[in-house]
Amino acid sequence: MRIVLLGAPGAGKGTQAKKIIEKYPIPQISTGDLLRAAVGAGSALGKEAKSYMDKGELVPDSVVLGMVKERLNQDDCKKGYILDGFPRNTKQAEALDTMLASLSLPLTAALSVDVPFEDLMKRLTGRRTCKACGQMYNVFFNRPAKDNTCDKCGGELFQRDDDKEDTIRKRLEVYNSQTAPLIDYYGKKGILKSVSGTGSIDDIFGKVCAALGIK
Ligand code: AP5
Ligand code: MG
Ligand code: ZN
Repeated sequence: MRIVLLGAPGAGKGTQAKKIIEKYPIPQISTGDLLRAAVGAGSALGKEAKSYMDKGELVPDSVVLGMVKERLNQDDCKKGYILDGFPRNTKQAEALDTMLASLSLPLTAALSVDVPFEDLMKRLTGRRTCKACGQMYNVFFNRPAKDNTCDKCGGELFQRDDDKEDTIRKRLEVYNSQTAPLIDYYGKKGILKSVSGTGSIDDIFGKVCAALGIK
């Protein structure tokens, strides 16, 4: 299964991807997570990426495409993968198609998780993430049992640098203008599936599994 997860910032791409891979073990490739790891490591790529991420803008295609190509060439991707947050514009989608066509391994599906814009701000300002395992929580909707501590691994929770109101507004704008057109792009290719991303995380997961044919 080779899947692209589409959805606005805060739609729950990461949350649903983590549930899919528990049930169907393939790698979750989040370009946002890869970029944040590069920022944390202080690499040249991370330094370049940080200035864009802090403004809520897309990191240049050349940087992201190189990173994704390298990741897809790793052995664990042979059994399939979930791309979370990539592609992000038409140029990235076309580059991905070219990459996969050369391997004769086209995408299985593009799954769009749809959430009304007015819900996204609260989801993002309330998000907290585990430093150790990456699990997401939310102070409004999905609190950990013990404040600031991950239920899964006991790790400490943090708030992402780009989850500030002004930056969130910019990310939502960038999504609307650059990423939302991909819904049509994959629709035309006949591989688009859509699920509503409102309601409980488990109910949404049920719909995600049905859409992807995961039993
Ligand atoms: P990235 O990390 O991809 O961020 P994003 O797209 O803005 O998406 P998020 O991770 O914010 O949202 P999500 O859909 O994963 O939601 P989550 O599951 O966490 O990208 C960050 C930056 O990196 C970009 O701005 C850009 O600069 C750069 N970048 C990344 N990829 C790039 C690319 N391909 N090209 C160029 N630049 C790139 O859920 C959100 C919150 O809601 C959580 O608190 C969660 O607990 C809660 N929640 C989830 N589901 C529900 C529910 N059903 N009800 C209530 N709350 C819920
Ligand atoms: Mg995410
Ligand atoms: Zn954890």
